[in-house]
Amino acid sequence: MPSKPCRICGDDALHPFLDLGEMPIANAFLTADQLRQPEYKFRLRTGFCSHCLMVQLIDVVDPKMLFHDHYAYYSSISRVMDRHFAGLAELIGESLLYDRELPLYEIGSNDGILLEKLARWNPNAVGIEPSTNVAEVARNKGLTVVGEFLTPALANELAAKYGRAQLVVGGNVLCHIPNLKDLAKSLDGLLDEEGVFVFEDPYLLEIVTQLAYDQIYDEHVYYFSVSSLSRLFESHGLRLFRVQPIPVHGGSMRVFGCRAGSRRPTESSVGDQIELEQENGLGAPEAYTVFAERVAQSRQSLTDLLGNLKREGKRLIGYAAASKATVILNYCGIGPETLEYVCDTTPTKHGLFTPGTHVPIVPIETFAADYPDYAFVLAWNHLKEIVEKESAFASHGGKFITHIPTARVV
Ligand code: TYD
Repeated sequence: MPSKPCRICGDDALHPFLDLGEMPIANAFLTADQLRQPEYKFRLRTGFCSHCLMVQLIDVVDPKMLFHDHYAYYSSISRVMDRHFAGLAELIGESLLYDRELPLYEIGSNDGILLEKLARWNPNAVGIEPSTNVAEVARNKGLTVVGEFLTPALANELAAKYGRAQLVVGGNVLCHIPNLKDLAKSLDGLLDEEGVFVFEDPYLLEIVTQLAYDQIYDEHVYYFSVSSLSRLFESHGLRLFRVQPIPVHGGSMRVFGCRAGSRRPTESSVGDQIELEQENGLGAPEAYTVFAERVAQSRQSLTDLLGNLKREGKRLIGYAAASKATVILNYCGIGPETLEYVCDTTPTKHGLFTPGTHVPIVPIETFAADYPDYAFVLAWNHLKEIVEKESAFASHGGKFITHIPTARVV
């Protein structure tokens, strides 16, 4: 498999380790008309750089094809995420903000789920969100949102217009940004001398240990470890001073950073986590080769389980048309012959079809109106929330299936 140089350090030692095949854009849900047209696909494969330790996509999709005027993901879909962001806003408000006037910025503010909570702590809260449809939802809540991709030039403009930031925050957004060198330059342009940045992204060690291969898709260009992130920031005059594992998105890491010369001391959590990553082999290619082998086994366990249930004549559906669903269904070759439909809470996804595999997406009411035998939860990170709210399904004898780390009925 031909490789490419590392997107971060330019080293040519990128080790390709996982090939999930030809993949459509995860959130490119299709209309009935589009089913007859060719779909854009790209090769979804990952590489590890043994020089700067960054795990990354080998081929990336132009961000303009991903974040636009009809971006399918609305952050406010989950009550658990809403509570999560309420906790983050409180932590920021209580322990990180230090000035009544200086602004704060949220990168990738989506529909304002976090920004509206931050605005209660500091009215100078500014969102940066290039996907215009979700940005509009936030503006309708009275929030200030700049509808562009963050670039060093925009960072300088914002700093001139609103002032330098006491805080820059991003929930599940850093890993979406192909040019992290520019991001670091933007942070440099935006941050006040003692300003802090906080980012939360799916955490590589969790992906590897849980076999969460469906976190790998077009939008996620990088899969961060604390080791790779701290090297990246250090090479741009920035420094991580605290890290905190968090349970969202199936296991994420919240990192706190500042300028290298800030008065904030670096806390022991950073070194401890780097040590744990080393103990788990994340600094060498072997761990990733083993991961890829286990991913193939996980796929086999899923296709075996679903195939057996189908042969027994059971009715199966998919639950949640998440981005992850696109990866699972395409990689495992699961389509309408196996799943009658995928139900989802997002109204804009209803009436559309899953990318690549063409399973119809329907409202949750369709599921409740005529329960199938099995519901395969395609957003396994929300499994607990979904099982709890769908207790009536279980009362009707229905069962949930999950596939992480291997397929099983829960
Ligand atoms: P998520 O894992 O947050 O998204 P992604 O993989 O795209 O990053 O899952 C979001 C999708 O799951 C979204 O389409 C809505 C759907 N969903 C439900 O249908 N019901 C639910 O209870 C939850 C929590 C999500």
